[in-house]
Amino acid sequence: MARLDVTETFHSIMFPGHMHTKDSLNYATKFKFQDTDTVIVTYPKSGTTWMQEIITLVLGKGDPTIAQTQPNWVRAPWLEQYYCADVLKGSTGPRIITTHLPCQLLAPALQHSKAKVIYIARNLKDVSVSYYHFHKMANFLPDPGTFSDFLNDFLKGAVHYGSWFDHVNGWTSHAKDIHNFLYITYEEMCQDLHGSVQKVSHFLQCPLTEDELILAQKHCSFNSMKENTMVNYTLIPQEIMDHGKGKFMRTGKVGDWKNTFTEEQSRLVDDMYSSQMTDSSLLFKWECPEKTARPLMTINTSESHT
Ligand code: A3P
Repeated sequence: MARLDVTETFHSIMFPGHMHTKDSLNYATKFKFQDTDTVIVTYPKSGTTWMQEIITLVLGKGDPTIAQTQPNWVRAPWLEQYYCADVLKGSTGPRIITTHLPCQLLAPALQHSKAKVIYIARNLKDVSVSYYHFHKMANFLPDPGTFSDFLNDFLKGAVHYGSWFDHVNGWTSHAKDIHNFLYITYEEMCQDLHGSVQKVSHFLQCPLTEDELILAQKHCSFNSMKENTMVNYTLIPQEIMDHGKGKFMRTGKVGDWKNTFTEEQSRLVDDMYSSQMTDSSLLFKWECPEKTARPLMTINTSESHT
């Protein structure tokens, strides 16, 4: 499938036609979840691939064999992408499913389901910078222009997968209606990877010994994943992802937005955050005290209610 220049618009949201079709998007919204499914839900660039790796390693009790031999899109396919049904057909064992769909499109399919849903959120300033760089290398996304152009589109929600505000607001406010829901942030994972892996292992009811935890943590560190061809996207041909224009595993840092944003842009985003997240119980802290243990964002709903 090429369709690199095609945009699929579905329920007023743009998706890259390279991997998405009307049929694949319809398939996703009507998907029959099984209670044993684990669903990773993110807005793009929020730590999706990282969570795919963490879950693989938790289920493997720290053993990296699967993580190092199966591409992430095979072991945790994107529900809305056209190949998902085929991958799931061949799957034995509990399924790990990934999605970037906004809540309003997937919540009906999840209703009454006991599938385990993990939502990862990331500071929108870092998301916007990461997404901008990803647009430069991913030939299935439009040319982003300057960062300033891109940020304008991003803040309006006029980018693929829609508005960050709608995505985070939608999923976090719906958390209480989902039977098994874990909310975690990219920042928390950066600050305390050991604790985050442990949190995921508890949520999946897959307890690990301390040695297994340490092994899992080692293999999902930024440096390990950067070298792992099964997750660093270097398997994707150059005409689809131009590896000369950037790396998928780019910086892996909290607060990198400061190297790109002007003060004015930062203020604009703060103002938009204040006005658009009024109903949200999320509390974002933009600054990242790298060595402190407190979470950068908190949510009032219980983080996991099984
Ligand atoms: P940056 O572009 O800021 O470096 P997604 O998988 O949702 O597309 O998110 C990609 C972002 O997650 C990239 O951010 C990538 O570097 C970062 N990332 C992936 N694995 C990571 C890890 N083990 N540690 C820290 N960041 C990671």
